[in-house]
Amino acid sequence: MTENPQAQAAGNAGNTDDESSEALIAVHWREEGYYPPPPKFTGQANASDPAIISQFGEENFPECFRAYADLLTWDKYWHTTLDTSNAPFWKWFVGGELNACYNCVDRHLGEHKNKAALIWVPEPEAESHQAITYQELYRRVNEFAALLRDFCGLKAGDRVTFHMPMVPELPIAMLAAARLGIIHSQVFGGFSGAACGHRIADSGSHVLVTMDSYYRSGDLMDHKVKADEAVETAAKEGQQVDKILVWRRYPGQYGSKTPMVEGRDFFVDEVLAEYRGATVAPVSMPAEAPLFLMYTSGTTGRPKGCQHSTGGYLSYVTGTSKYYQDIHPDDTYWCMADIGWITGHSYIVYGPLSLGTTSVIYEGTPNYPDAGRPWRIAQQLGVNIFHTSPTAIRMLRKVGPDEPAKYDHHFKHMTTVGEPIEPEVWRWYYETVGKGEAVIVDTWWQTETGGFLCTTLPGVHPMKPGSAGPPALGIYPVILDENGEEVPKGSGKAGNICIRNPWPGVFETIWGQPERFVQTYYAKYNKDADSKDWHDWPYFAGDGALHAADGYYRILGRVDDVINVAGHRLGTKELESAALTVEEVAEAAAVPVVDDIRGRAVEMYVSLKPGVTASKDIEAKVTTAIETDIGKIARPKNIWIVPDMPKTRSGKIMRRVIAATSNFSDTGDITTLANPEVVEKIRQQVQGAKAARGQVPRELTETEAEELKSFGSE
Ligand code: WT7
Repeated sequence: MTENPQAQAAGNAGNTDDESSEALIAVHWREEGYYPPPPKFTGQANASDPAIISQFGEENFPECFRAYADLLTWDKYWHTTLDTSNAPFWKWFVGGELNACYNCVDRHLGEHKNKAALIWVPEPEAESHQAITYQELYRRVNEFAALLRDFCGLKAGDRVTFHMPMVPELPIAMLAAARLGIIHSQVFGGFSGAACGHRIADSGSHVLVTMDSYYRSGDLMDHKVKADEAVETAAKEGQQVDKILVWRRYPGQYGSKTPMVEGRDFFVDEVLAEYRGATVAPVSMPAEAPLFLMYTSGTTGRPKGCQHSTGGYLSYVTGTSKYYQDIHPDDTYWCMADIGWITGHSYIVYGPLSLGTTSVIYEGTPNYPDAGRPWRIAQQLGVNIFHTSPTAIRMLRKVGPDEPAKYDHHFKHMTTVGEPIEPEVWRWYYETVGKGEAVIVDTWWQTETGGFLCTTLPGVHPMKPGSAGPPALGIYPVILDENGEEVPKGSGKAGNICIRNPWPGVFETIWGQPERFVQTYYAKYNKDADSKDWHDWPYFAGDGALHAADGYYRILGRVDDVINVAGHRLGTKELESAALTVEEVAEAAAVPVVDDIRGRAVEMYVSLKPGVTASKDIEAKVTTAIETDIGKIARPKNIWIVPDMPKTRSGKIMRRVIAATSNFSDTGDITTLANPEVVEKIRQQVQGAKAARGQVPRELTETEAEELKSFGSE
């Protein structure tokens, strides 16, 4: 282990005696040295006294989370901090009432009304950025809320689906819904119309809010076309959409070729004219009322609508934004994620705006028109807090390693989220992007968890490249083995990371699927289904992890059939069912391959129905089917049409064996398969073709090899 003497002086990393066991597991990814937070950062940090950690210690649970809830303005204070009577459907701050929009907008008008709440940066550089003050945000949110209420007839508890790109109209729509207690469900703009349609149907939305077009990598994309596909898909699933509200990228000018359907489709800029200057009183909502749904992939085809609460969620994202993003009201904060993912909901919209800061929204791709764009934006706007994913960092490092040095931007704080980050990539982020001046937090969490679970507290803990860090305040993780036995703390041995306790940001349920909620996240380690004691309900995160002797967690990756592409979860079953819509396809299996930029990419294996011959045409059909059903993000790197799939005697496709083939790694024991001979056939076919395409991967790290070994094991 390399040791950083400054970190020793900082003295916060704890015991580092027994580093050898961890090193055994990750030979290629060694224990790294520590980087202390820069003193300039610590001097101004919202949390720099380690005492805060014990304030959130287990002996103070759950009352410790009052500190987060007290950051909000409540219409009615709560009487019960945590109600466990219907475990594991936890209720936080029961008896309390508040409005999320009021907390993110109205309450800042007194002090900050002329300050920018949002700064929107269009992708074309010729278009200047737009600053929207809190006052302006208030006005626009009220007008859109009036439209949702009076034109659409929506009220508290109804669902509304948004399929919006990265424009300020998206947070405006979210906040307008929240103002009325309407549950919003924003579907990532890059998802296909069909994917949006499934989510409309699942949530039971009658109204879809979309946009005509937006810029992506220099092209004005037709987006409205997806709305027509979405309502068609929803209709097939029995859900009628009555109204499609279409924002226009350039008001007054329609940027889509798709016709507007009379009586169903409306231009928002036209309808809004009726609501100029309208104000709508924020509706006081119970703390446990759902604020929004965020769909995510699971191990079966049907996406899961994670239901997040108003009081618990908003408290948690506000508290973590304050202490972990170190947001002060005079900061200029830029999270480059898409608002269509949980990161954007929590750490572009709700957390930052609740704290009254300025949040930057960028429309396009980070490397458009060149890899200096993010640093140019940061310099122009004086961004001092920057937040992105390892995929974006890897890509910017590859295409523009020297770009950051050309700009006079200065970050005090940087975040990485969504996937494990390789120490080399971390160091480029730290030294080249952050110029050695910024603290970095590597934040581990999930759609389901609302906010951060493991990360260093930036003014307190030293950073360790490649490790997320200690648990966040009030989070008590444990690593369990398959039998539910605890993997010894600090042992550096891998197991399933679980969170022993509920926390305010945890999702309330899967929309419409409460049994699946219990089954997926709590049943595995619960021994008494009737227990009302939270200690009996560890939350199963679905990630492998290890706990090092210094108390830092390193996340190894998913232990289920989920593929993490560029920090986004794709379920193998979703990919496979899309491939199976192609008439010629008999069987399909999706597996991850290690990818230098996106962390993982998808490869599809398909076998064909009898009598059908393999062709490029079928490969193309499979790609199209996946893009149509899910979106371009899921486009497979390769499609392999194979004579047969390796199977167990009971007929299960062995994805682990296929994944090993795609990654040139060891297939392990295959003697128990029903058809072991097919493994060698496939190996020659796939690895031969990959060699010819120049796609032989680097040698896997041990942690990657571990992850692949458990892939698809059921
Ligand atoms: C999965 C959750 C968290 C918001 C964005 C993704 C992986 C997330 C890290 C990290 C290693 C990470 C996990 C997790 N993951 N953050 N810092 N280090 N892995 O949300 O789509 O719900 O994905 O992303 O595997 O389970 P998501």
